[in-house]
Amino acid sequence: MRRSFPIAVLVSGEGSNLQVLIDTLHGNEVEIVGVGANRPEARGLERARAAGIETAVFPKADYADRAQRDAALADWIESLGVKLVVLAGFMELLTPGFIARFPNAIVNVHPALLPAFAGMNAIEQALEAGVKVAGVTVHFVDEGVDSGPIILQRAFELSYPRDIAVVKQQVHEIEHELLPRAVSLIARGKVSLDPSDPRWVVIDE
Ligand code: GRF
Repeated sequence: MRRSFPIAVLVSGEGSNLQVLIDTLHGNEVEIVGVGANRPEARGLERARAAGIETAVFPKADYADRAQRDAALADWIESLGVKLVVLAGFMELLTPGFIARFPNAIVNVHPALLPAFAGMNAIEQALEAGVKVAGVTVHFVDEGVDSGPIILQRAFELSYPRDIAVVKQQVHEIEHELLPRAVSLIARGKVSLDPSDPRWVVIDE
């Protein structure tokens, strides 16, 4: 039998997106062969261990600088032989050296409709801007901040008065559908970049 599509997932915290990947794709379309974190207390690591997935922690403080940390992280990911790296709540920027080692093979889930509200605290940024529509983006990772080609997006209307806890919950529910869907499409070879305009991601379902 053909080995299913091997991926690594990087987390920093709760890992609810990782959990959905474990529950929906792991062991069938996709095999999560490693979960890495930048913090040993990331709850996502426990979720990975509970699913029998190899884990590793790469705190910045253990290395001379970010480039060396990212090189160690990339070495570990490469040793796993993965075809895709999924950032599922990995809350640190990765250096260009890391990105270059996995060309068009890193995806991120972001809690806003990019290119609006890139960076940290995207939901708070959107509410402060008074938007009427919020949403989620899954995109390829390039060297910029949340700036790579967009794979999938979904929007929803905000109700008034706004309650940030409710909005966060709505965003998470969408993330939990969109991220596995994007990973599944990639694993099934349905996602490509338009050669005439590599900003444009083509989904061939
Ligand atoms: C998600 O909202 C994601 O968009 C952001 O970090 C959060 C991670 O949540 N980048 P979890 O750790 O998967 O629960």
